[in-house]
Amino acid sequence: MTSIGKPFQQRKRALQYAEENGLLKLGEGSSRRVFMLTPKLALKIAMDDDGRSQNKKEDVVYNKTHSPVITKVFKNSDDYTWIVSELVRPVKSDNEFYDLTGININDIRCVLFIATPQSKDVYASSYNASMKLKIKQSHYDLLENDFVKDLIDLVKKTKIAVYDIDRIQQYGVTTDQRVVLLDFGI
Ligand SMILES: Nc1ncnc2c1ncn2[C@@H]1O[C@H](COP(=O)(O)OP(=O)(O)O)[C@@H](O)[C@H]1O
Ligand SMILES: [Mg+2]
Repeated sequence: MTSIGKPFQQRKRALQYAEENGLLKLGEGSSRRVFMLTPKLALKIAMDDDGRSQNKKEDVVYNKTHSPVITKVFKNSDDYTWIVSELVRPVKSDNEFYDLTGININDIRCVLFIATPQSKDVYASSYNASMKLKIKQSHYDLLENDFVKDLIDLVKKTKIAVYDIDRIQQYGVTTDQRVVLLDFGI
């Protein structure tokens, strides 16, 4: 089999597995389809090369950082056609996000802007003018918040795209009630 044909076959097998076992489809993004494997595990199947590279990055980021603010990655196929991740449910609302983390989702940008050099560049060029980042003293106080500390730590240790971690859709809640990023492959 050619190297191009192998991921195709692997994907076919993984999708077949999901179908034959009646796995519930949890969602689909630009390059991956996600199923519930067990009540605690998600199966993320890459639909193309981009999806495989996202799967690989999530595995690498998790194993490099063991950060509590991302989904754990437990298993992968050798070519990253699929990974098995910690299952999450969507965050219900901004209020729930606040209750679980102690930070308002809309303040994430300001906090990252203050604390991480790489986001400064991104926000300065794209967000700062258009979205009027208003940094207040309260944002500096948030640097003591545990969730914020973990998020900043993650951004500093990885090349994670900061503009992808400031929206509520990027987060989920784990079965042990952690708020985590669920799509951090970029
Ligand atoms: N670990 C997970 N647990 C539960 N649902 C998930 C998980 N990861 C992703 N999903 C769901 O699948 C969708 C697509 O996954 P995502 O990681 O965003 O893929 P893509 O990289 O293709 O955008 C998400 O929007 C979410 O609804
Ligand atoms: Mg996505």
